[in-house]
Amino acid sequence: MNDLGSMPLGAMPGDARPETTRIVRADTEGIARTAELLRAGRLVAFPTETVYGLGADATDPAAVARIFAAKQRPRFNPLISHLPRVAAARQEGAFDAAAERLAEAFWPGPLTLVVPAARTTEICDLARAGLASVALRVPGSAIARDLLAEVGRPVAAPSANRSGRISPTSAEHVRADLDGRIAAILDGGPTEVGVESTVVACLGGPPRLLRPGGVTREALEAVLGEPLDAPSDSDKERPAGPGLLASHYAPRARVRLGAESIRPGEAALLFGGARPPGLSDAAAWIDLSERGDLAEAAAALFASLRFLDAAGAATIAVVPIPSEGLGEAIADRLGRAAAPR
Ligand code: TXA
Ligand code: MG
Repeated sequence: MNDLGSMPLGAMPGDARPETTRIVRADTEGIARTAELLRAGRLVAFPTETVYGLGADATDPAAVARIFAAKQRPRFNPLISHLPRVAAARQEGAFDAAAERLAEAFWPGPLTLVVPAARTTEICDLARAGLASVALRVPGSAIARDLLAEVGRPVAAPSANRSGRISPTSAEHVRADLDGRIAAILDGGPTEVGVESTVVACLGGPPRLLRPGGVTREALEAVLGEPLDAPSDSDKERPAGPGLLASHYAPRARVRLGAESIRPGEAALLFGGARPPGLSDAAAWIDLSERGDLAEAAAALFASLRFLDAAGAATIAVVPIPSEGLGEAIADRLGRAAAPR
C-alpha cells in the first residue's frame, strides 16, 4: 500500500500525462513518503478535519500551478496555506489582536484567518493570487499536522475535487475526481467536520466573515466579544475563490431547497427524523441526522449529496434545516448547490 518506490520523483511537471495515483495509508511511513512527494513539488491529497485538501508546496509556484491544472480551475484564486503550529503561521502573516485571539481559541481547528502577509513570508505570489494578504490555517487533524510538520513548509491546499464539484470527505471521493492527476492520496478515513473551514479576515477594523464553515459565527463572536462584520466591498472585488462563487458545490442534479413534500421521482435530503409527504415515491432519500444534530449533519452533507446524485434523479429536494450554529455553513453550501448554472 505504501510502496511509492516505483514513482519517478520529480518526473511529473504540470503536463497532461496521466500518472498513477497511489492511495497511501496515513501511518508514520505513509506520512513520511507523502511529505517527501510534497517537498519534491508533487501534488498530494491529504485529510483535514473539514474536507480532503489538494496539497502542494506553497513556496513553489510551479507546484502551486499544478493544483490549478489538476482541479481544472478556470482561474487562479487565492489558496489557504496550511501550517502545523501557530508559531509557524506567525512567520507568514501579521496577526492583529483579533487574529491572535481567534488563533488562540480555535487553532488547531476548522478556522482560516486572512491576515496581511508578513514581509518575510515564503508563500509564493501564485498561492496568494498576488494579494497583499494571506490565508492561513492550522488544521485540527493530527494526521494533517504530522504531515505539515514533516514537510516543513507551508502547504497550499484547496478542497481536493475538480472545480465546481462537491468537496471530498473521503479518500474515495478524491479518487473519483482526481485519479491519474495527482501523485498520491493520504487516506485518513472520513473527515469529522465535513464542511470547509470558516474564513475570517483580520485586516484592520472589525473581523469580517468571508465564508461560514466549521467554526460557528456564535463561537467566533463569543471569543471576539463583538459581532463579525459582513464582507466589505474590497473583499468582493478580490478574485473571489470558487468557494465564494454562487454555483459551487454543485451535484449533477438540480437542487430544490425548502421542500415541504417530495415530488415523485425526486431524491430527498432529510433532517431530524421528519418524513415528508411523498417520500415513498422518492428515487432515494437520506437523513443527514435523524436526531437533529447539526454537527452530524455537516459531517454527512457532501457524502449524502454524492449518494443522492448517484441515484440519478433529476432533482434533489432538500427539507428545511435550522440555520443557527453549523446550520449557517450547511445553508451556505446548499444555497450554492441550488444556484442556477
Ligand atoms: O476547510 C478548508 O478550508 C479546506 C481544507 C483543505 O483546508 N480548504 C479550502 O480551500 O476550502 P479553498 O481553496 O476551497 O477555499 C479557500 C477560501 C476561498 O473562499 C478563498 O476566496 C479564501 O479562502 N481566501 C484565500 N485567500 C484569501 C485572501 N487573501 N483574501 C480573501 N479570501 C481568501
Ligand atoms: Mg473548494
